[in-house]
Amino acid sequence: MSRTPRALAAVSLGVAASLAVTAAPAGAAAARFTPGAPGAGDPYFPDMGNGGYDVAHYDIGLKYDPATKGIQAVTKIKAKATQNLSRFDLDFLGPLKISSLTVDGRKASYKRTGAQELVITPPKGLRKHRHFTVTVAYSGVPQTIDDATLGTSGWVPTPDGAVMLNQPFGAATVFPVNDHPTDKATYTFTLSAPKGLTTLANGDLRGTWAKGGWTTTRWDVRNPMASELSMLAIGRYDVLKGRTGSGIPNLTATDQAMAIKPADAKKFHDQTAQVTDFQASVYGRYPFTSTGGIVVKAGVGYALETQGRPVYDLGRRPGSIPSGTLLAHELGHQWFGDSVSPAKWADIWLNEGFATYAEWMWSEHADGVPVQKSFDGVYATPADDGLWKGRVADPGRDHIFDGLVYDRGAMAVHVLRTTIGDGDFFRLLKAWPAAHRDGNASTADFVRFAARLSGENLDGWAKAWLYSEGKPAL
Ligand code: TRP
Ligand code: ZN
Repeated sequence: MSRTPRALAAVSLGVAASLAVTAAPAGAAAARFTPGAPGAGDPYFPDMGNGGYDVAHYDIGLKYDPATKGIQAVTKIKAKATQNLSRFDLDFLGPLKISSLTVDGRKASYKRTGAQELVITPPKGLRKHRHFTVTVAYSGVPQTIDDATLGTSGWVPTPDGAVMLNQPFGAATVFPVNDHPTDKATYTFTLSAPKGLTTLANGDLRGTWAKGGWTTTRWDVRNPMASELSMLAIGRYDVLKGRTGSGIPNLTATDQAMAIKPADAKKFHDQTAQVTDFQASVYGRYPFTSTGGIVVKAGVGYALETQGRPVYDLGRRPGSIPSGTLLAHELGHQWFGDSVSPAKWADIWLNEGFATYAEWMWSEHADGVPVQKSFDGVYATPADDGLWKGRVADPGRDHIFDGLVYDRGAMAVHVLRTTIGDGDFFRLLKAWPAAHRDGNASTADFVRFAARLSGENLDGWAKAWLYSEGKPAL
């Protein structure tokens, strides 16, 4: 599903086009059918995503067996060709073994190449605009990714199961996927595990079934979601269901291995509701059909803004729950990062700068700490500190989770606020997520949008705070 032009895909087409094959159907005017690009054209992650098609829906059916710690899965992908396709790639990574693969119900030939390409050649070329369904059955123990600078992601084992954390990559360790934020899609998860284990995912719980010692849950994600924000969790969880004060369904869960007291689990649940409602009053209507959160014991050392239901890993602090500011960060992402996703990974400050600013706003709202004080605290960092190295709007592949993106991103937001004034700033905080809801946007889109809304020339601000290295003067 794409709601913004996919100019990115064109970048890597040059190489693929030279491998063009011609497969003109008899009687039709000769049409060239060429392979889809093996990447979405993101400079930081050239293999991620693919070209030539657009996914509308993932239907992921997955059964977890604690005896093997492995999965048996069938993923069905509904997509539409965006060119005449002779073949196309999905991203699929690790030791999972494919037992069958069909396109529109017919056996398709495939091979796995490079780090993560699953190259699929359907029996006949797929004409541009054609809808098609890819069904892949597979099993095994999914891989966990340990990236030297970006940490642990993908399928991450927990004491009684596993959790899937996919930022910036990881989804391909669990399901075949067009793994780039520009190809958002709706999702259905159907998850089975032996009775006694809980299964969780993004979206709304549609049902729970018990049969022959196994329990199955189904989850629906109705808003388009970037694959990096897809999540599932299996284990022993205590689950709380309710609604926020304004009526948004709220589902939270805590891993029993974290030994969180029931009163604290309730506090986590209620604070999630309060933060969600507060942020909806500042950023505009909550963008999804439910909110919530999951406290896991994964040992990854970070929290993640998985869509509609962030994951909080507090592995080294058993018994504790996320702070209000951490909730504000991950829930703030629902507007900034999740509903409006970056066009390229280089634009990630649009996620992290605003999520960090959400922390500052929550601290002011809940604890009376002025936003200006939070700004002053980080701005005081000496000019020769590493924080001021690199550029906020293009930090480099290995630095997408660095302080430069988070803290300098939030400072950029605050200086924008002082430049355009509170009236325009708070209008912007609502107008931006509304304008790009369920879509993607770039840094340039944002600067243009803010300039148009405020009527100010923001080139100086953007140059100093987004596009240059070093500590800007105030
Ligand atoms: N993007 C996450 C957040 O801000 C944090 C995160 C995800 C992270 N993966 C990471 C931080 C890897 C450090 C390393 O909520
Ligand atoms: Zn964040």
